[in-house]
Amino acid sequence: MSSATLAPAPQPFAHYRGLGDAELDARIAAVRGRMGPRLVILGHHYQQDGVIAHADFQGDSYQLSKSAAGRDACEAIAFCGVHFMAETADILVNTPEKVAARGGRRVTVVLPDMAAGCSMADMAAIEQVEDAWADLGTVIDTADVTPVTYINSAASLKAFCGRHGGIVCTSSNARAVLDWAFARTRRVLFFPDQHLGRNTARKMGIPLDEMCVWNPHDPTLGGNARAQLEKSRVILWQGHCSVHAMFRPEHVDAFRANLPGVQILVHPECAMEVVDKADLTGSTSFILKTVAAAPPGSKWAIGTELHLVKRLEQNHPEQTIRFLSPTICMCATMYRIDLAHLCWSLEHLEACKPVNVIRVDDETARWAVTALERMLAVS
Ligand code: 13P
Ligand code: SF4
Repeated sequence: MSSATLAPAPQPFAHYRGLGDAELDARIAAVRGRMGPRLVILGHHYQQDGVIAHADFQGDSYQLSKSAAGRDACEAIAFCGVHFMAETADILVNTPEKVAARGGRRVTVVLPDMAAGCSMADMAAIEQVEDAWADLGTVIDTADVTPVTYINSAASLKAFCGRHGGIVCTSSNARAVLDWAFARTRRVLFFPDQHLGRNTARKMGIPLDEMCVWNPHDPTLGGNARAQLEKSRVILWQGHCSVHAMFRPEHVDAFRANLPGVQILVHPECAMEVVDKADLTGSTSFILKTVAAAPPGSKWAIGTELHLVKRLEQNHPEQTIRFLSPTICMCATMYRIDLAHLCWSLEHLEACKPVNVIRVDDETARWAVTALERMLAVS
């Protein structure tokens, strides 16, 4: 073997921070070349272009979960996204059955930067959800409530759903998941994103006065009167995405006034007032597919993360593509994943000294996979 094919010894992170993009690109490509199919790099649509260029598969949260679930043959997954996504990948690719079928071998899942969290996921802690469930039980029969967690949540919340007959949803299957839930129970507790819950329930014809918002910081029934809880079919956790909260109805009005013929296309994590004014609402892959299918000359103002919109703009010069907000709103935690972190984590993986391994404990994973597999069966 020539020395050019030998893996370099992995270095402390500070070493990679000092390298230029061209060298980092070459070293990442070299690891990929040497590891071949033993390594899989998954990338969410919100990732930076330079990182996406190295991904074997790019997708939305749902597609990435499915992709991870099917990666039995590889040894390691480098997840270019945020923490809850890497947790989900670990849970789905390392079920006890899959690990047994591989002779006890786990697929190592790494998150190149551990600081890549999700502020929305952090708005619901398992202790708060358990307290809310107990408090709800003092007013309504929780046997008639299905807990539904958005995939943007910690594994412990997914496990809570698994244990209580509940399910996970993503932005692309929330409607099908709520249909599943309402076929079982009269009510749903939806966390942590109130907007996805509200927007989806309204599209199903559930009136706003049959929804309430649960504030986990209000010790008095989450800030609700007993009568409101008794009336509610959807109990929405008071959480939101700080990126999508930046889009406002007045931004829609301004585009309609200044760009005749514009179509407004937004993610369902946006507030109801924005979704109500939009032409189309859907997940990140819905947004990508919709624009790709539109005729040349189409005009769009898009309300989702900046990197996705900028990439769309570059890929579709035949269309007019604008960012819906006048201020820059990008997901700062998604942006934590950069070439330096990717190269650092890959060279450690290759040297069998993995860093930033995401490993969900067995008991949490056992229940979380129940809720995740219910979702995968529904959609
Ligand atoms: P999707 O990938 O499901 O569209 O969700 C966007 C998001 O906020 C990921 O964190
Ligand atoms: Fe979380 Fe919002 Fe970033 Fe998605 S865009 S990872 S919901 S903070």
